[in-house]
Amino acid sequence: MKVLVIGRGGREHAIVKKLKRDGVEEIFCAPGNAGMEESTLVNIEETQSDILAEFAQAEGIDLTIVGPESALMAGVVDKFDSVGLKAFGPTKAAAFIEGSKAFAKQIMAKYNVPTAAYGEFTDVDEAIAYLQAQKMPIVIKADGLAAGKGVVICQSLEEAIDTVKDMLVGGKFAEAGARVVIEEFLDGEEFSLMSFVSNGIVKPMLIARDYKRAFDNDEGLNTGGMGSHSPHPAITDADYEEAIRTVVIPTVEAMTKEGIPFTGILYAGMIKTADGCKTIEFNARFGDPETEVLLPRLETKLTDIALSLLNGQDIELKWSDEQTVGVVLAAAGYPEKYESGAVIKGLDKLEGVDVYHMGTKAAGTDYAINGGRVLFVVGSGKNLDEARAKVYKELQKIDCQELFFRTDIAKLS
Ligand code: AMP
Ligand code: GLY
Repeated sequence: MKVLVIGRGGREHAIVKKLKRDGVEEIFCAPGNAGMEESTLVNIEETQSDILAEFAQAEGIDLTIVGPESALMAGVVDKFDSVGLKAFGPTKAAAFIEGSKAFAKQIMAKYNVPTAAYGEFTDVDEAIAYLQAQKMPIVIKADGLAAGKGVVICQSLEEAIDTVKDMLVGGKFAEAGARVVIEEFLDGEEFSLMSFVSNGIVKPMLIARDYKRAFDNDEGLNTGGMGSHSPHPAITDADYEEAIRTVVIPTVEAMTKEGIPFTGILYAGMIKTADGCKTIEFNARFGDPETEVLLPRLETKLTDIALSLLNGQDIELKWSDEQTVGVVLAAAGYPEKYESGAVIKGLDKLEGVDVYHMGTKAAGTDYAINGGRVLFVVGSGKNLDEARAKVYKELQKIDCQELFFRTDIAKLS
């Protein structure tokens, strides 16, 4: 079996490691990163659909797993489908569930999927008139992809008006901000619920929690995610069942009814509010850093899941009882300006944890910083406390002054 993974971050490293654990003979990653020792790196960008398909055909790849939204939105899956290659991921049209927040909201409104009340605007005066009638805080979202930075939670009307002006008139986020979604602020515990989806079959994964803010106590700016754990004790089995029944299944059915069936990973970003679980966003791919704490818990082979579902065959997912906690080591200054290049020592000293490379490059026999989020250390144990203790003990061995991490990941009491 030959599998190609598309992407270059911690999420893709987690997919690669899982494939290795599953016994896949040959694993390729395009373009990957220097830390992915379990795979053969292929020097092709994620968005080069034609070149990726040529490579997959020439190499006789049996299955391709697509990581990032940029590849999906570039039509990689459409290209692979058109030449008869098996790729697990949505077509470009289906990936719009992530690529356009307005599209996602329209689907949810039409099919009664629980979500925040909202309005959608391209005209600044109409947006301001709408804002004047709303309660604060309020959430303003650029419609298109904005590298995780397109969501602003505004505490005051002034701030909200400035934010819509920045996007609709000031050109912040360019095309992605030429349309905005303004939505009700939802209060409650956040959780991530990802599902394997194909041919109308929905196989939900376990719940994970992501920590989006840069610093302890949820202070600082939003990031791509600074840590994660699975399970998420605040989310009960009843919440899990509710989210699957009211959000995931209706959305998959809606996409089919709309003539744009969804294949791949449907990621529902959820909030448990006083009146039920509501959707804050959909992604069309594995979440990062949720994937790094979920795949180690998955006992069923990833290739079996993808190939069965692509063939329209159901498959049971088996999960281990081990619980997982992961902590990101990020470059000083992230998510704003940071520097690459500092050498990271001590990685070979870590024991009993998994290290995923998010943004590193080779530096002799060591690695060096090559991105905002650099490394992700995951520990497992019979409960979250045990997993947490392991991660924080081991990551102290990583020697690099330019890295920082949150100290409160999975600190639940
Ligand atoms: P997103 O980029 O869509 O993942 O949003 C980033 C973060 O903004 C989410 O993880 C939430 O913490 C927050 N957020 C988004 N929408 C809402 C909402 N309607 N109410 C409260 N918080 C939200
Ligand atoms: N962890 C959130 C995301 O992958 O978008």
